[in-house]
Amino acid sequence: MNRPAWLRDAVFYEIYPSSFYDSNADGIGDINGIRQKLSYVKDLGCNALWLNPCFDSPFKDGGYDVRDYKLVAPRYGTNEDLYALFREAHELGIRVLLDLVPGHTSEEHPWFLESGKAELNEYSDRYVWTDFWIKGTPGHPYIGGETPRNGTYMLNFFKCQPALNYGWAKVTEPWQTPMDAPAARATRDAMADVMRFWLTKGCDGFRVDMANSLIKGDDDEKSRTCALWKGLLGEMRREFPEAAFVAEWGWPRQALCLADFDMDFYLDHWGNGYNKLVRSADAYLKGNDPLAFVTDYADLYEASREYGYMSFITGNHDTPRISHYMTPEQLKVGMALLFTLPGVPFLYYGDEIGMRYLEYLPTKEGGYTRTGSRTPMQWSEGKNLGFSDGEAASLYLPVDPAKDAPTVSGQQKDPDSLLNTLKALLRLRHGTPDLRSDGSFTVLYAQKDDPLLVYRRGGLTLAANPSNKPVNTGLSGRAVFQIGAFEQGVLGPCSFVILEARA
Ligand code: NOJ
Ligand code: CA
Repeated sequence: MNRPAWLRDAVFYEIYPSSFYDSNADGIGDINGIRQKLSYVKDLGCNALWLNPCFDSPFKDGGYDVRDYKLVAPRYGTNEDLYALFREAHELGIRVLLDLVPGHTSEEHPWFLESGKAELNEYSDRYVWTDFWIKGTPGHPYIGGETPRNGTYMLNFFKCQPALNYGWAKVTEPWQTPMDAPAARATRDAMADVMRFWLTKGCDGFRVDMANSLIKGDDDEKSRTCALWKGLLGEMRREFPEAAFVAEWGWPRQALCLADFDMDFYLDHWGNGYNKLVRSADAYLKGNDPLAFVTDYADLYEASREYGYMSFITGNHDTPRISHYMTPEQLKVGMALLFTLPGVPFLYYGDEIGMRYLEYLPTKEGGYTRTGSRTPMQWSEGKNLGFSDGEAASLYLPVDPAKDAPTVSGQQKDPDSLLNTLKALLRLRHGTPDLRSDGSFTVLYAQKDDPLLVYRRGGLTLAANPSNKPVNTGLSGRAVFQIGAFEQGVLGPCSFVILEARA
């Protein structure tokens, strides 16, 4: 597979900048806070970061409404702070991906302000506009009445996020621009310029927001959007061969095979394998059989493994936290699976200690039900659980008020904690080529109404049982890693084992 070699051994850690560590006591996480915690990330066993958008923004969608792609949001620090983060991360062997939001900007972005002017200018066609003030964009949300321009504009997500114009696959209306129109090319080139800017400063690549949304009116295969990415990523790779790109796409047949991304998230889509592994009512990790998960996953894996990596996630800033769906014992088994299946895995900050999803928090910065997964990292006991020296009332979001809220320092002391279990697992993964992203993978056993899952990675046999009953595996061999009980072939309740011998 022709992907950057470092991805073979990469384990990512996703950081929501507002909530990781506040270095200056203003209540909000920042870049210098992340710098101070790099050795923690390294010690955990992660060697790559993905930072959610940290750019200048009105923060109506947690920073996914970018006002200036090349400026660090003042609340997070300065561009120099971020360059220093790149340098210090690299010294520790940690790569850093930023979040690229190519599909839309903030409604406050200067390009959009120009685009909304009545007079034609360079930016007029950089967004998707109709040609009359009450004519909408059929099949897409749109806004009218906000600008001097006689037209309405298409949205990509919230009202604050006008869609950038990469052209239409098929032009059927006079106001639609073809993909090769100068303005559509200019949008593409502007995004290349943003990528080049950060890659030149030391960033190692991008997580790409809504990567499948660029060309409007695309076919079901997204063939035009895929072609656009293939070209754009190829252009970047010629200049930055080590750069890596992960798509928020959730369909590797397109994202990896056609659009040429290095990685594609296995997103939580209703009824898909990830959903059936972690989140559905009948999810495998809740103790059910693994068939629905395995069937979907094995198919996607086979179709895409020659092209790139599927990325398992513990969760992300858009999903309830993984701990919400299972018992602490099941969560350990879950982590064992997520970090021993093929591909490049992503750990969402705080999931390593089983942080809770704070379900009833009021919405913050467009978070809505996502807000409860964005609360401050829980470092230690005491003031603000070690997140900030500021006043509790000034915090970005409240810390988990539970008396037994898990913390890093608490779990560091407990050899059996989730944190220490995960650390041991990641240490093993880094030291075992068979467990790396591109190591081979075969399902050996997955049956209806049976919670046992057995799979092979190279010379290792792995077995999981997230149910509350013991299962007979018929396996033997030396265990190189174990959660729970494994004796004479019987895998105890909520147990997991990695065996050296072949089954
Ligand atoms: C996906 C991001 O993950 C989400 O947080 C955001 O709200 C939307 N894209 C819009 O950019
Ligand atoms: Ca701060």
